[in-house]
Amino acid sequence: MIEVRDKEVLLSTKSTSYLLSYSKANYLTCEYYGSRLSSFEEAKPLVSDLIINQGTELNIDDKNLNLSLNQMKLELSTLGRGDFFSPSLIIKNSRSMIFDFKVDKVEVVKPIIHNILPMPRDPSEELVICLADNDMHVVVELHYILYSESDIICRYIKVINQDSQPLHILKAMSMQLGLVNHNSTLVSYYGNWANELNVQQTKITHGRIVNESLTGSSSNRHNPFFIVKEDNCNAINGNCYGYNLIYSSNFEESVEMDSFSKIRVQVGINSTLFDKSLLQGESFVTPCALLSYSSNGYNKLSKEFQTFINNHIVKKKFNFESRPIAYNSWESCYYKYNKRKIKSLIRKASKLKMELFVLDDGWFANRNDDAHGLGDWEVNRRKLPGGLKSLANYAIKKKMKFGIWMEPEMVNENSRLYKNHPTWIIQDGIHTPIKGRNQYVLDLTKKEVQDFVFDSVSKVIESADISYVKWDYNRNISDMPNSGTFFYDYICGLYSVLNRIVDKYPYILFENCASGGNRFDLGMLSFFQQSWISDNTDSFKRGEIQKGARLGYPLSVMSNHVSGKTSNQLLRYTSLDSKFNVACFGILGYELNLCDLKPVDIKCIKKQILFYKKHRDVFQLGVSSFIGRDDNSYSIQAQHNGKIIAAKYYTHTIPNPKEYHLRLLDTEKNCDYSFYSRIQNRDFARFGSLINMVSPIHIKEDGALIHFISNRFTMDGEYIHGIISGKILENSGIALPMLWSGTGISNSMSIIHDFDSRLYVFEKC
Ligand code: GLA
Repeated sequence: MIEVRDKEVLLSTKSTSYLLSYSKANYLTCEYYGSRLSSFEEAKPLVSDLIINQGTELNIDDKNLNLSLNQMKLELSTLGRGDFFSPSLIIKNSRSMIFDFKVDKVEVVKPIIHNILPMPRDPSEELVICLADNDMHVVVELHYILYSESDIICRYIKVINQDSQPLHILKAMSMQLGLVNHNSTLVSYYGNWANELNVQQTKITHGRIVNESLTGSSSNRHNPFFIVKEDNCNAINGNCYGYNLIYSSNFEESVEMDSFSKIRVQVGINSTLFDKSLLQGESFVTPCALLSYSSNGYNKLSKEFQTFINNHIVKKKFNFESRPIAYNSWESCYYKYNKRKIKSLIRKASKLKMELFVLDDGWFANRNDDAHGLGDWEVNRRKLPGGLKSLANYAIKKKMKFGIWMEPEMVNENSRLYKNHPTWIIQDGIHTPIKGRNQYVLDLTKKEVQDFVFDSVSKVIESADISYVKWDYNRNISDMPNSGTFFYDYICGLYSVLNRIVDKYPYILFENCASGGNRFDLGMLSFFQQSWISDNTDSFKRGEIQKGARLGYPLSVMSNHVSGKTSNQLLRYTSLDSKFNVACFGILGYELNLCDLKPVDIKCIKKQILFYKKHRDVFQLGVSSFIGRDDNSYSIQAQHNGKIIAAKYYTHTIPNPKEYHLRLLDTEKNCDYSFYSRIQNRDFARFGSLINMVSPIHIKEDGALIHFISNRFTMDGEYIHGIISGKILENSGIALPMLWSGTGISNSMSIIHDFDSRLYVFEKC
């Protein structure tokens, strides 16, 4: 709801309110952002009218000696008029670099949709506040968009040059927000390849903390999602604010505390090297920033972002559609395969009731390593006689869909494309362009390159019965030409190609990938329904990465695979069930070598797939929350339509572990829940020489006999079940089976090895 009255505007979402004011000399400020207010009057005690300039502050208004911009919670700030925070807008023309913006017009409009940059779909209301500097003939529109049933506000700005002199935009943040300082902490991500989305907490102290990317993508180093939380805020209690940017290139987000301990938050395009020039009549629209507030801790905030992404970012056709269980050839084959091998993998995957076969890298040109073939998107007939068509038909005959990997934005030097079009790569024309993973990035700012990418993807999609495309992007950008908007133009070029492709092929399921999570953001998710968030499929590390991702993104956009027991990334050995219990929270897939499976593994995977299919709605559409940490474990849950699935992930085992209880969050207090544990296999070989305590003959710990037995036979692990009321489940939780303690064994005991885990299902009766 948007209410406008004299010099004030109140934006109200489901449970938050945002109060704007321009009562102080027409400068636009945010006087309050927090729990929902019932009226303007309720805001009165929250707003301090008194401003007395402190120390060396400057007065902006002669009539009001107490008015300093530095003291105000400005929604837009510039340089040179007494505000000494880092400005949210830096612009200049040949006449001046000082701009002084005041409110000129306030309008509630029918929501406006631009089509250069992605925007959330299905808005309900929009407020536009025009700020003008009439001496400089520049107008800045501040847009605030609301969505029914959501606590997210979307913001962007539009800069319009009405002056005859060209205007240079050097920095244009999509949003700025002043916060009352209650001792706060910034929660943001850091990472790198196979190690994405680590959550870090930084105490906000005096100075400016910047969360940004300069790689040409949103990057695996940081991510545009972040939280500012008050220090006493935890998963379920306390105040916090979440932010994200719908943009896939260099972003810049800062939290600044000035020497008066006031806090300002900014979110937008990275200003490093940014210089956009506007002629008279031209305008520039920034990407959309999202913000939300929760008074109930960061789980509630995550829930808002997760729900919003499903309802307003992911394309409507796919947002609630169940996603297939994939088999992906990468970790089992890399580049080394032929038609026979792929067909036998299709047969095995189909027998295990997987639903989509994805042929990863290696199927085109002379692509037998990463130094060849990118750009030449024609099937390698020596490897795959019959082409993609015959493989796709074979998969379909075996009741699976068929999908393909592509990396359309790239080219290898060893390719026909590079030989024919060496000028299509990103280069400055002076330095020898540098390579990453033996490849160059095609310059998508050029229309002919955009057309080439569009045509090559179209040809591949149309060459066979393809229903899925994994779109990869495996290096960062370097050697940019001398342009103040190169990164912005690149991503607009990409968005324009993606728009054309998803419009032409609305039925294709696209998976976004960039060496895993090097471009995992809301811009890409506006086109591609799901993302491969990391190349790391080790169960423990992957669990941490998914835990980080869930803070700001829903399960429906994360695809996760069960890979071989020994992790290719870390060489850590964990069971297939450990891997499944992590991978199932999101879109499940497999990429281990199905031809090498032992009989017990086949049984185990069959059980996993049955379980996943039964609960797919919760795993893919559930709202997921972090429950808590306990000694050597942590637990999470996903909840959908009255069903909750919880996971308990152990790290290392400890002697004489204590009694564990599993408590859930957000249960329906007046309902009963029936619950049960997922039964997992016990592997005889992992009892070591202790097996001799029960064996009539001596069995060597690592001998052929124990391997013979453990490859073929297994024993069901513990099973618990029962009924419990929602209230008790939340307050006290269910008692979990006793963990292995080294002094005895029983069937109802949990035999936990390092990095093992368990799943529990709770259904409303
Ligand atoms: C990237 C992806 C992997 C795989 C390879 C293929 O690294 O993240 O999943 O597709 O490329 O080259």
